[in-house]
Amino acid sequence: MTVRTIGIILNGATGRIGSTQHLQNALAPIRAEGGLAHGEERIVPRLLLVGRDREKLAAIAKQYGIADWTTDLDGALADRDFSVFFDAAATHARLATLRKAIAAGKHIYSEKPVAPSVAEGLALVREAEARGLKHGAVEDKLYLPGLSKLAYLVDIGFFGRIVGFRLEFGWWVFDGVHTPAQRPSWNYRASGGGGLTFDMYPHWRYVIEGILGRIRAIVSAAWTAQPERIDERGKRYAVDVDDSVATIVELENGAFGTIVSSWATRVRRDDLFTLQVDGTHGSAVAGLHRCHVQSLAETPKIPGFSVNVDLGVDYRAQWGAVPDLSPYKNPYRVGWEGFLRHVVAGTPFASDLRAGVRDVALAEACRLSMAERRWVTLE
Ligand SMILES: NC(=O)c1ccc[n+]([C@@H]2O[C@H](COP(=O)([O-])OP(=O)(O)OC[C@H]3O[C@@H](n4cnc5c(N)ncnc54)[C@H](O)[C@@H]3O)[C@@H](O)[C@H]2O)c1
Repeated sequence: MTVRTIGIILNGATGRIGSTQHLQNALAPIRAEGGLAHGEERIVPRLLLVGRDREKLAAIAKQYGIADWTTDLDGALADRDFSVFFDAAATHARLATLRKAIAAGKHIYSEKPVAPSVAEGLALVREAEARGLKHGAVEDKLYLPGLSKLAYLVDIGFFGRIVGFRLEFGWWVFDGVHTPAQRPSWNYRASGGGGLTFDMYPHWRYVIEGILGRIRAIVSAAWTAQPERIDERGKRYAVDVDDSVATIVELENGAFGTIVSSWATRVRRDDLFTLQVDGTHGSAVAGLHRCHVQSLAETPKIPGFSVNVDLGVDYRAQWGAVPDLSPYKNPYRVGWEGFLRHVVAGTPFASDLRAGVRDVALAEACRLSMAERRWVTLE
């Protein structure tokens, strides 16, 4: 068996998502298992951790037995032993950082959103391709068990003709006054690349198009439910981005659906994220892990409202659960495995930077729709 070592610069290694999902749940396990099996080869990631805080970096490097770490991003990019650059740092610096990495000749893999605008994202794609570099975007949610089950239902034709969908997402994020906020303050600042539209709609693009088909047009409204917050240092600040968004989506196949996302709502749903799909032959509701179905044959004939008495029907009990059909694998790890095989062996990788730019396109369309108060077509 041949060992292929691949040098990966992990920028934002101490951040929330970089340290947990990408390092702890994806790259560290791949290394601990002696690499990723690919035919007769094993692809072994060699990591160079990059962040801003030396102490945190040293601690995390020690925890995973990683020899290489630095706070010097430019120095890291100059190191020829590392051919891949991955960005999981805060959103606002992404465009400049990816540009530098491309100029340094690195293959790039990026957290979402890959760019602040479609135009800038496409420029990145062109720059990377002009240099013959491989590229990828993190599109992890498709690999969640609940959404894999939903995709499976589409594949086996469970729904018949899909007639509509409803995506609901969110929970209450404290404003920091009495209880510390559970999201970083840059999420609520335009200068930090924050705002719910740009943070979450890139996900909704590949989830919807990956499972249900191409989006034709959207109309969207966004607002700020909590205009004032307290940051990590206890300082009050004004929120200048949206924290709540409602969108109507038209698919190319003629079906319509809605998306309601909010960091200022309280949860009374099956999960923090749910996607209901209705079809002529059945409906399904997927959460992050579970997925429930009701087929046409099981659909109760509801006579209508009872205004006099509460009928006390448990509507949820009328749905069945889709079983777990394959063993769980961390969704970020699925992405890494696909990207590493793409870089090392040229295996096709659907979540490339172009896909990441289309993810941005949905967010951009929503922003334009709100600004001009009209339907926007997704090119
Ligand atoms: N795929 C997903 O589901 C998912 C989930 C969460 C976050 N993300 C993305 O990952 C990225 C990081 O998000 P996070 O929640 O881990 O953020 P975070 O704030 O926890 O970490 C970000 C990293 O960036 C650095 N950083 C933070 N503020 C900075 C600043 N002002 N200047 C320079 N560097 C700074 C920090 O050192 C840290 O290492 C974002 O782009 C976000 O959109 C993706």
